[in-house]
Amino acid sequence: MTARILAVAALALLALGACDNMASQPRDKTWRPANALPDRKVWPPVPPAEAIAREDVARPAPPLTPALLARGQERFAIYCTPCHGYLGEGDGMIVQRGFPAPPSFHIDRLRQAPTQHFYDVVTRGYGAMYSYADRVASDDRWAIAAYIRALQDSQRVAAASLPDEVRRGLK
Ligand code: HEC
Repeated sequence: MTARILAVAALALLALGACDNMASQPRDKTWRPANALPDRKVWPPVPPAEAIAREDVARPAPPLTPALLARGQERFAIYCTPCHGYLGEGDGMIVQRGFPAPPSFHIDRLRQAPTQHFYDVVTRGYGAMYSYADRVASDDRWAIAAYIRALQDSQRVAAASLPDEVRRGLK
């Protein structure tokens, strides 16, 4: 009987010992200062200039400039091509992997849609497409909308009307 009590006590001690080991095992300290930057500041998760304020409100369309189109092209490539494809034909990589296909931007209905429609779709989402309002700020939505317009026009230009150096680049 005494032997059995001793055995139980020994087992209990072993179990406690095991707990102790778990409590003192090495661990990572989540909030230690990061050394990534020379001033030991932590890299901000989103650069402040790119962050979108929660109260981001709809703003009127900025003037159409080459810079706006370039910005629109860049943002379109980041946020829209995965589904809409680089030419806006609705055959992006995610669609090729099974996501519902969006319509091509080159169908008559979308060619005739006002630029505002593209802005609104990005802001509010449309059917299976979710809203991008929390990722794409108002000015960038206009830039993308302008770029979609340019993309639509780009598919209907007569090759003969293009400057020589552009025509030479055509396949
Ligand atoms: C995850 C895939 C996905 C991404 C990314 C995406 N879309 Fe879409 N989009 C869709 C789908 C799917 C539809 C069709 C929705 C429907 O008809 O139910 C659609 C529809 C549209 C339409 C057509 C609306 C109409 O009147 O038929 C426009 C314009 C559009 N998207 C613009 C954009 C822009 C601009 C971006 C980038 C900011 C973007 N989409 C990003 C999936 C996506």
